Amino acid sequence: MEDKNYETIERRTDEDGVIFMSIKNDDNASSAEGSDGTVTILAIESSCDETAAAVVRNGREVLSNIISSQIALHTIYGGVVPEIASRKHVEKINGCVRAALAEAGCTLDDIDAIAVTYGPGLVGALLVGVSEAKAISFATGKPLVGVHHIEGHICANYLEYKELEPPFMCLVASGGHSHLVLVKDYGVYEIIGQTRDDAAGEAFDKVARAIGLGYPGGPKVDKAAREGNPDAISFPRAKTSEKSYDFSFSGLKSAVLNYLNQAEMKGEEINKNDVAASFQKAVVDVLVEHTMEAAAEYGCEKVAIAGGVASNTVLRERFEEECAQKGITFYRPSPVLCTDNAAMIGAAGYYEYIKGNRAGMDLNAVPNLPLGDRERRYHGRSSK
Ligand code: KG4
Ligand code: ZN
Repeated sequence: MEDKNYETIERRTDEDGVIFMSIKNDDNASSAEGSDGTVTILAIESSCDETAAAVVRNGREVLSNIISSQIALHTIYGGVVPEIASRKHVEKINGCVRAALAEAGCTLDDIDAIAVTYGPGLVGALLVGVSEAKAISFATGKPLVGVHHIEGHICANYLEYKELEPPFMCLVASGGHSHLVLVKDYGVYEIIGQTRDDAAGEAFDKVARAIGLGYPGGPKVDKAAREGNPDAISFPRAKTSEKSYDFSFSGLKSAVLNYLNQAEMKGEEINKNDVAASFQKAVVDVLVEHTMEAAAEYGCEKVAIAGGVASNTVLRERFEEECAQKGITFYRPSPVLCTDNAAMIGAAGYYEYIKGNRAGMDLNAVPNLPLGDRERRYHGRSSK
């Protein structure tokens, strides 16, 4: 399966070090103009360190996808600094929305609804997007739709594969989440497994820091691993219990740290590339194994991946092989759609919109918003 056409068509670094990107899909050269009978959504995302705005038609066509990435600003601190993230979101969000509308060739008049990520994520960061979306909704009278960030990641697959329909099994692996989700229908999710401790991306970031590769760790480990031997060091694959699809990555992370400490105490040189490759293999083994077992148990003929870690080259290759062997169709978004972006929020927002789900002016940021329960999702508290 080849990567499809989503690619960065414009990229520049602003004076403050924030990277501006415009992502386009060649299939959808049309603009929002004259789009009677279709639903055009302006989507906003600001849950972590990317300020993003996009215009998406019918949940599938990306008319524009603007990402303003702060990664370079946070790199010097070795991770995301929430206060800096919020401040930069405030500075960048209007520009992103304007650029998204301009790139799509439309104005707010052409927009049917505004969709926004309201959780999970950093509260101060989320609040910027939520406030922006509420202000636009209030000023234009257009409906507001609240979107769960992880649902957005899953829906990135709908942008890449116009033919993809539920049900399917989806592995969501990002910096904050590792979920195995049975997508039963549009907007209907059952969590089959999740991490008991660190998220997969978090483990990549921590191990990268420990071996001196820097932040963000995932892409750097991925790159270093290409030069290393994945079988050089045997790191543990955690099983939480025989029957569980849950993940645990903190034991693996500790095993890597122990390995590094011991090598240091013995005065031995470590081969960073071998550590990266062996660690990566341990993570990928568990992610692929759990997903394939769950797909078999739930009778899924389709497997999808999503989230920042879904860009990992070895993870993609392993899934491709396993799915081909088992006659399962494998779906994975282009790397630019795996990372945080607003087009995926526009896709998820569309399915909420056509179901009639609307948020009010009381929509709030919910940092620990759970996935899979509408009641809890809108009120941010457990109904159990
Ligand atoms: O989905 P995302 O952009 O933001 C969150 O919602 O967290 O995911 C970011 C995470 C980071 O932990 C980053 O290190 C990881 O995704 N990541 C990768 C790769 N690219 C990004 N992990 C492994 N391999 C990659 N190529
Ligand atoms: Zn994310």
